[in-house]
Amino acid sequence: MLKKADNNALWAVIASLVLFLIGGLLTTVVPPLVDTSWSKPFENTDPAKGPTGKLVKLNAQQLQGRAIYIREGCWYCHTQQVRTLLADTKRYGWRGVDAPISTPDEFVNDSPHMFGTKRTGPDLARVGGKYDEQWHRTHFRNPRDLVKGSVMPPYPWIVNNPVEFQALVAYLQTLGRAKDWRPANDYEK
Ligand code: HEC
Repeated sequence: MLKKADNNALWAVIASLVLFLIGGLLTTVVPPLVDTSWSKPFENTDPAKGPTGKLVKLNAQQLQGRAIYIREGCWYCHTQQVRTLLADTKRYGWRGVDAPISTPDEFVNDSPHMFGTKRTGPDLARVGGKYDEQWHRTHFRNPRDLVKGSVMPPYPWIVNNPVEFQALVAYLQTLGRAKDWRPANDYEK
């Protein structure tokens, strides 16, 4: 058997494809079957829960903001996933409160997802409520006015378009609100 795989290219290719398929099934198809909570939206996302019922289903303006986020390639530099690392939960926390780790149920309505892969800038999964509109305006106009040495590019065409600017900020303010993890510490309060 082993000898055959060593000597027969076709056999080796078929065997590796079968192993790959098993790996694929075990990591993508089986987990959601085992834990079905993954495919249900996080419970705080239910708007029926009152003013703190945070939305993951976005309204029209927030959806427009999301489209701008995709169009401008914000996701080239920003991830939206707090990993199971102390460095992440502390870094994206707020006033001493650790950021909750991202869970699959937060992304049920996020299609295509904006997890991102490259962390050139900070993770944005919990950025909603961290800054007010004025901060974002100054930051998009020229990030270096607020953060010395920032490599984030300026986005004057967004700031100069009030509809687009407000949509993008509205979208950013929804990020991480599903968890309702620091409602009393918002910039608004
Ligand atoms: C070239 C990489 C790059 C791109 C593209 C980029 N950013 Fe950034 N962003 C950064 C870096 C680096 C920082 C950290 C320094 C700073 O705050 O300016 C940052 C910071 C931020 C912050 C503040 C986060 C925090 O917790 O303080 C927000 C919000 C943000 N970016 C949103 C956006 C949006 C929205 C877009 C798309 C319109 C975008 N960024 C595009 C690199 C980038």
